[in-house]
Amino acid sequence: MRCHLCGTILKKYIDLHQQPLANSLLSSPDEQDKVWYSAVWAWCPSCELLQLIDVPPAEVVYTASYPYKSSQSQFMNDHFRKTAQYLYDLYHLGNGKVIEIAVNTGGIIQFLSCTVLGFEPAQACRPDLNSKGIPFHGDVFNNLSARATSSVWGQADLVYCANTLRSLKDLREIFESVLLVLKEDGVFVIEDPYLVNILDRNEWDQFYSENVYGFTVTSMQHIARRYGMELIAVDPLPDNHGGSLRYHMARKGARPVGHIEMMKGMNDEAAIPDKLATFQQVIDDISTKFTVALSQLKRDGKRVVGYGATAKAVTLLNYANIGPDLIECIYDTTAEKWNKFIPGIKIPILSADKFDEDDAHTVILFAYNHRREILSRENKKRQRRWLVYHPGVMYVTD
Ligand code: TMP
Repeated sequence: MRCHLCGTILKKYIDLHQQPLANSLLSSPDEQDKVWYSAVWAWCPSCELLQLIDVPPAEVVYTASYPYKSSQSQFMNDHFRKTAQYLYDLYHLGNGKVIEIAVNTGGIIQFLSCTVLGFEPAQACRPDLNSKGIPFHGDVFNNLSARATSSVWGQADLVYCANTLRSLKDLREIFESVLLVLKEDGVFVIEDPYLVNILDRNEWDQFYSENVYGFTVTSMQHIARRYGMELIAVDPLPDNHGGSLRYHMARKGARPVGHIEMMKGMNDEAAIPDKLATFQQVIDDISTKFTVALSQLKRDGKRVVGYGATAKAVTLLNYANIGPDLIECIYDTTAEKWNKFIPGIKIPILSADKFDEDDAHTVILFAYNHRREILSRENKKRQRRWLVYHPGVMYVTD
């Protein structure tokens, strides 16, 4: 058990047993999950980086039917619009060039007037990108596609990557590829959930097959250094995907470095190993309390459904062994997920259009990172009992 980056022996902290792939939805309840992985996360004391040991190969995770679309959230669309403007002003992009890795349905580049290029291998996103007229590469971002891009399209002033870097095991390949397409004074901007937020908010469902790394300011500094770059700034994004950070990197010495050390201290990153040491207990407590609450509702004859068939829900439901006997179905706005089944425990996913007619007693809010958006919209239609499972199992109203 050695670090994917530096080979140091790791310390195991989180074990969620065997898990199916979070975004490999099943077409029928009789279908068997083809790939299972051992959901164990461990800590590298040298890189100060939490990592998934048994990483499923990218080609089985990111298949043609990969269903995730960031455009399902108005909050995320607004976030990308604001981020585009912020980075445009901050780095004086003018008529410059911007690359977005894993652009999904449009990311920030859909809002930029400069020359842009996206990378997106998921076929489900292609109609969105085409209809918005966004130029994109249908390949994964790697050494090969980066080399071709730098020779044909040129180099970028900004490379942006949101909610994806943590999923890519081979950081060396990614950073080498970024350096190929980045101008000498260009900036690499990354957004990802912040491990401190995940631990402090008990978001243990964030540990799923695509969450290979749990990043912090400290680990990002190690990573940047390793690949000839340095962290120059960090922005907090407390409402994104359960609490994220935005990291700005540049080639070492190319740009002034901002107040980064303060952010590490303020968030007590040095305490992460201590928090990890008790986190399995947190997981087991919440898992038990959640199962007890659902079993009680069943005994009382109350119907329970879910809202938001998130990738995060898959680990939680499989670890706690909660199936359709306890949660009848999960509603979701993503057409690609409708009439499919949650991997492993096989809860059906239904169109959110049908949610309006459902008078279930309790709704589990799996898409808790979109809580404000979903509850403010849905509570206008019907007052619901929304149950969440962190920081603890409880009903929420807004
Ligand atoms: P995410 O937490 O990874 O962004 O996934 C959110 C899931 O919830 C995704 O499948 C889309 C779904 N969703 C809805 O069904 N309705 C909504 O209003 C929002 C914002 C998301």
